[in-house]
Amino acid sequence: MKNAGNTILVTGGGSGIGQALAHRWHDAGNHVIITGRRQQVLNETIAGRERMAAYVLDVTAANEVEAFVQQVVAEHPQLNILVNNAGIFSPEKVTSRRDIASAERMIETNILGPIRMTNAFIDHLSAQADAAIINVSSGLAFVPYPASPTYSATKAAIHSFTAAIRPLLKGKVEVIEIVPPQVQTELSPGQSADPNSMPLDAFADEVMTLLHAANTPAEVCVERVRYFREAEAKGQFDEALQMLVRYS
Ligand SMILES: NC(=O)c1ccc[n+]([C@@H]2O[C@H](COP(=O)([O-])OP(=O)(O)OC[C@H]3O[C@@H](n4cnc5c(N)ncnc54)[C@H](OP(=O)(O)O)[C@@H]3O)[C@@H](O)[C@H]2O)c1
Repeated sequence: MKNAGNTILVTGGGSGIGQALAHRWHDAGNHVIITGRRQQVLNETIAGRERMAAYVLDVTAANEVEAFVQQVVAEHPQLNILVNNAGIFSPEKVTSRRDIASAERMIETNILGPIRMTNAFIDHLSAQADAAIINVSSGLAFVPYPASPTYSATKAAIHSFTAAIRPLLKGKVEVIEIVPPQVQTELSPGQSADPNSMPLDAFADEVMTLLHAANTPAEVCVERVRYFREAEAKGQFDEALQMLVRYS
């Protein structure tokens, strides 16, 4: 991807990974638009930064996404990069009958959200120079976390969707996947202080280094996630799964 001079829209840009990447992209000389459901965190994220803009958008609101995209493209016609980062995580206990509302919300947000956003932006992006779609999956796309099978399945699905559209868009829209390990954010309560999670700044810095390489890799994998990304290919899938079972 081009390092500077882009107009980048980051969903879920008001906190965590989305916010850290949005600030780094802005610092690198890009226009950055962030979206999310909470106006206040969006306002705090863009405070004091020219070339940043914020819009409230719930990616699960199917009937609002199309109108939003028309508005944002009219107001930012140079927009050339979509970052599907918004996501949610809920723990699940699947071994007895339960209310699956939270599982349905994860599917709506983590899978239908990016599919919907990609669809709404694809004609615009295809007509832009240096266009890219960047999808945020997870190491759990490659070795599922038994404490949240649905979350893991949504991330495996976003990996699959990303891999499937890459060859179709080749030459028109660069398709990149960011594969985070467990990172210190509030994706789940208390995780931002968890010493077993990767510090957010270190993660965002390593991601930017990989994105700014001469040839941006199709999958942006920091060192810390490589064990999970490569587990199956290296014959370590069962070992990795058992490790996650112990944390479940
Ligand atoms: N942290 C990790 O360990 C980790 C590991 C692997 C992958 N990831 C992925 O990284 C991405 C970012 O997560 P994070 O760790 O940075 O957690 P986070 O701080 O909770 O960020 C998630 C963002 O998504 C937004 N969001 C959630 N539901 C939304 C909706 N329906 N519509 C629009 N925006 C929505 C949230 O903003 P609002 O609440 O204001 O809407 C929030 O800003 C997610 O896709 C997550 O699955 C994280």
